[in-house]
Amino acid sequence: MHKLMNIVTGSFGYIGKYITNELLAQGREVKTVTTHPDKPNPFGEKVQAAHYNFNNPEKLTATLEGCETLFNTYWVRFNYRQWSFDQALSNTKILFNCARDAGVKKIVHISVTNPSEEDDLPYYRGKAMQEKALRELGLDYAILRPTLVFGREDILVNNIAWTIRKFPLVPIFGSGEYQVQPVFVADLASLAVVLSQTPGSQTSDAIGPETFTYEEFLHLIAREINRKVHFMNISSSLGILLGKLIGWVVKDVVLTKDELQGLMRNKLTSTQEPNGKTLFSSWLRDNKQHIGSEYTSELNRHFYWQRAA
Ligand SMILES: NC(=O)c1ccc[n+]([C@@H]2O[C@H](COP(=O)([O-])OP(=O)(O)OC[C@H]3O[C@@H](n4cnc5c(N)ncnc54)[C@H](OP(=O)(O)O)[C@@H]3O)[C@@H](O)[C@H]2O)c1
Repeated sequence: MHKLMNIVTGSFGYIGKYITNELLAQGREVKTVTTHPDKPNPFGEKVQAAHYNFNNPEKLTATLEGCETLFNTYWVRFNYRQWSFDQALSNTKILFNCARDAGVKKIVHISVTNPSEEDDLPYYRGKAMQEKALRELGLDYAILRPTLVFGREDILVNNIAWTIRKFPLVPIFGSGEYQVQPVFVADLASLAVVLSQTPGSQTSDAIGPETFTYEEFLHLIAREINRKVHFMNISSSLGILLGKLIGWVVKDVVLTKDELQGLMRNKLTSTQEPNGKTLFSSWLRDNKQHIGSEYTSELNRHFYWQRAA
């Protein structure tokens, strides 16, 4: 019997790769749309890649034809050169409209915890606008809102560990009392695939089973990687300045205002019962040799990956 095709945005990226893995493990067929179809393809023949073609909706619709489900991870972390939150939102709307025109039955969309259309942080406001566009599309949808997503290929947690390895003095932004409930990337991927098979539309947070204050989170990482560092409470504006300084040295955008403010406003937490199974503390123990051993660059990953490869 002919198997129905699933399409995943960014199968060669972070969360998209895990969703692709999960679908393939279940014997489902996958193709991907990506900014870089020529990136190294870890799935070989099993996953064909096409360009997003946001500027050519007919071509994008043709790519999406024959697909039952679209798994959407597309978004940008910050405004950079011609890439911006506004453009990412308008591209997302093009993608959703093309999916509907192509006859896609359901869209599983990766959002973030606590998005809001009224938010003064463009990242969270844009994520809420993406959700709104999806709800108004007229297709079945599943919106999954993860907190901080941890895994081997993650950037943020890895670079926190890198900072702890590299420097004797590590900043804690503000009081450090705000919380994180990190969710494992493979748990998020399996929740996404389960929702793709659930009839109707759903909205759910994706959260791990452990809650830490940010200060506890840093202490846990330092303990596991066996680093005796001093922690120093600093203001958020000094945090941004420090991030810019480190970013200048490593030629990357290390931390954005939206990420820092989102964290400090407890946006990476949820009141929902945890649905991720993997404990960050256990995963950290198993990955303590690897985590933070090298800096992971967002700019290299998305813009200069040929140079970095
Ligand atoms: N990582 C987290 O901790 C976390 C937490 C909460 C929510 N989320 C949400 O989860 C989704 C996926 O995140 P991810 O970390 O897995 O991202 P990712 O792999 O880095 O990117 C996902 C997709 O967006 C494209 N993309 C990213 N930045 C781009 C840019 N500047 N210009 C053009 N295309 C760009 C990627 O292009 P390529 O195909 O070329 O790679 C890929 O198709 C996002 O919507 C994000 O908001 C992530």
